[in-house]
Amino acid sequence: METDHAAGAAAPALAEEIAEYYERDQEDGRLRSGAGRLELWRTQDVLRRLLPPAPADILDVGGGSGVHAQWLAADGYAVELVDPVPLHVEHAARLPGVSARVGDARALAVPDASVDVALLLGPLYHLPEREDRIRALAEARWVVRPGGLVVAATINRYAALHDNLSTGCTSTPSTGRRSRQRSATAGCDRPAGRSPCSRRPTSTTPPTSRPSSRTPA
Ligand SMILES: C[S@@+](CC[C@H](N)C(=O)[O-])C[C@H]1O[C@@H](n2cnc3c(N)ncnc32)[C@H](O)[C@@H]1O
Repeated sequence: METDHAAGAAAPALAEEIAEYYERDQEDGRLRSGAGRLELWRTQDVLRRLLPPAPADILDVGGGSGVHAQWLAADGYAVELVDPVPLHVEHAARLPGVSARVGDARALAVPDASVDVALLLGPLYHLPEREDRIRALAEARWVVRPGGLVVAATINRYAALHDNLSTGCTSTPSTGRRSRQRSATAGCDRPAGRSPCSRRPTSTTPPTSRPSSRTPA
């Protein structure tokens, strides 16, 4: 049964500045060149070990412009992608073997127990409120068939520190200001196009009971 979860997602899926960033159309190239390819290859490596053999149904929630959906479809999976950014959905819908629509991880318009795998490789670190993250995880859980798989990506609370250390960016503890010289030489003054992932802690525990707005299949 298809369910209407709109009431569970009162706030917009994306903050205005993040929506604006994604509307600049830079997401599609992020993993296709340079250091971004490491994330693509690592994701492929992990998913190819975890996924059931193709053919199987994959729901790619927050799938962006379809970078992962594309190779998953080529591997023989039926991929449906959901993303709140219309431009991403437009890109993804052009990919062979991929269907795409606008939607929100917190309120999936997808029947319960209807897919083998739900991917959440994007929404959790864009949902700063814990209850929204739990909601997204719960939604993913309800749409997978019994024995199915939910794969979620998070950005941990040390990511910014790790990032800054690896790029040589430093800050002065008393003022919180970056060392300008270091920043300039290490390229730490990031260009405006840098991905705006909200680097917040994402430790969540999925609920053990069904959210009330989710009706049985
Ligand atoms: C950094 S991109 C990741 C795209 C792709 N999953 C990947 O791993 O390369 C994050 C994606 O999450 C999407 N997103 C953010 N909030 C979301 C929400 N509440 N529901 C569904 N998708 C969301 C964004 O629109 C964006 O396409």
